[in-house]
Amino acid sequence: MAGQDFDFCVSRRLFLAGSASAALMAGISPRLALASDRPALPIPAEMRADPAGTIKLSAQASTMNFLPGVATPTYGINGPYLGPALRVRRGDTVNMDVRNTLAEPVTMHWHGLEIPGDDDGGPAEAIAPGATWKPSLTIDQPAATCWFHPHYYPSTAELVLKGLAGLFIIEDDDTDRLPLPSTWGVDDIPIIIQDRRFNPDGSFFHRFNLAAVTVGYVGDTVLVNGAINPVASTAKGWLRLRLLNGSNARSYQLAFSDDRPFYVIASDGGLLAQPVRMNSLPLHAGERYEILVDARDGSAFDLVTSPVMQMAMNLPPFDQTLPVMTFSPDGAETEGTMPDALATLPPLSSSQDLQTQDLKFGMNLDAEGMGLFMKAGLPKMRAGGSTDPEIAKAVEQVILEGPDLTQEAQLSANNINGVSFALNKVNFDLPIDTDLRMVFSEGTDKMLHPVHVHGCQYRVVTVNGDPAPEYMQGWKDTAAISQGGTVEVQVRFKHPATAEKPYMAHCHILEHEDSGMMAAFTVS
Ligand code: C2O
Ligand code: CU
Ligand code: CU
Repeated sequence: MAGQDFDFCVSRRLFLAGSASAALMAGISPRLALASDRPALPIPAEMRADPAGTIKLSAQASTMNFLPGVATPTYGINGPYLGPALRVRRGDTVNMDVRNTLAEPVTMHWHGLEIPGDDDGGPAEAIAPGATWKPSLTIDQPAATCWFHPHYYPSTAELVLKGLAGLFIIEDDDTDRLPLPSTWGVDDIPIIIQDRRFNPDGSFFHRFNLAAVTVGYVGDTVLVNGAINPVASTAKGWLRLRLLNGSNARSYQLAFSDDRPFYVIASDGGLLAQPVRMNSLPLHAGERYEILVDARDGSAFDLVTSPVMQMAMNLPPFDQTLPVMTFSPDGAETEGTMPDALATLPPLSSSQDLQTQDLKFGMNLDAEGMGLFMKAGLPKMRAGGSTDPEIAKAVEQVILEGPDLTQEAQLSANNINGVSFALNKVNFDLPIDTDLRMVFSEGTDKMLHPVHVHGCQYRVVTVNGDPAPEYMQGWKDTAAISQGGTVEVQVRFKHPATAEKPYMAHCHILEHEDSGMMAAFTVS
């Protein structure tokens, strides 16, 4: 179905009762009460190229009522918040037509696509207010759930936070041959998870202070497709959930309230070899997984996120499990099912002497900065796992009131291989059509960095020296290093990127990306 606007009609039903809202903020255990005052899950409209092969996108300013009776200023793509779910097929060439109607510059990056640097929409491809950018994308990679968002330096975090992001779904014949659930919004359901925090006037909170460049943005409210704690009325059958962590920084540890198992069938860049049974799945900023969950018995269940240890501390609200949304499989029975085998993945190169590119993610917090942060409550945060209101208050203070940085300090707060990102500077060069090894590691801090590389889908070989867990063995473009760990990947770039329009490798914590933790590279 061709659709232009992100369908938000349903979300107008969003009247989160005070008690429910308070419960959500306090992070009490999930409940299954299908209160009539909860919003229905908004389903982004699918959008295909028009008969001329063009997809028209327009970044625009708007408002949304996330909270009862309060208008939040937002940005959206073809709608008030987020964007349509683009649908393209392997083998297609689509003409993108990206118009910027905002009062500030943007770029539009196709996250996960294997396309040349010229079409990639990185920081070098600014779209000025009123201008239109028209790259033509030739799709040649397996079916996958990718996404798109701005990449303007240094305001990506703010632009994405305000709502500029959407799904970019690639289809292919191999996937169509499988009996997977595939009715959009019925048993094939997009789940874009983001955390937000609201100022008293309803606007989104965002500040580039010490807390932001250190831990990234930490919200206190979870949105799914732009709705708070929504309910999805789905088919009574197998459900395919396309999970995207579209948050600026927060990681999730997803599970179902009744602990029912689910099956990971795809990662960032496409199908796994076979379904991987799990009960709990980590989802870091920028990552996607597709999972199948058996809802044939028709009983309702919640998607929840367990406490997450991130940046050597438990994120607020500490040891609480947060409800994300509820599934109510009360619709018609559907046919979609789980195949035993999904895709054939090429074997990894067995060569021991691949050219290696190291990416070491570091932070430049000086003693004074660190001292401020320590004084502001880091040791207390690190104590984590506590519901002590004192600690909660200290954490809130760091996030809300931590000292602001000058832009100069912001831009040099973080680095890769000791160098903070600079426009018009290439940090390294890689050969095209060559198997390469990349090693992501951390500097001195016990931080978390979801590492994303443009222009490719890589394969994770080891995590902290061990073979990658099964669910990470497929195509990936984002993989997290944490707690001083190391991730080793194998990759082969099929397209060139020039010094004028280089690819980026960066931390997908957008506040880290906007504060130096990004490197530009060419492929030739
Ligand atoms: Cu999703 Cu370089 O970004
Ligand atoms: Cu990307
Ligand atoms: Cu980071």
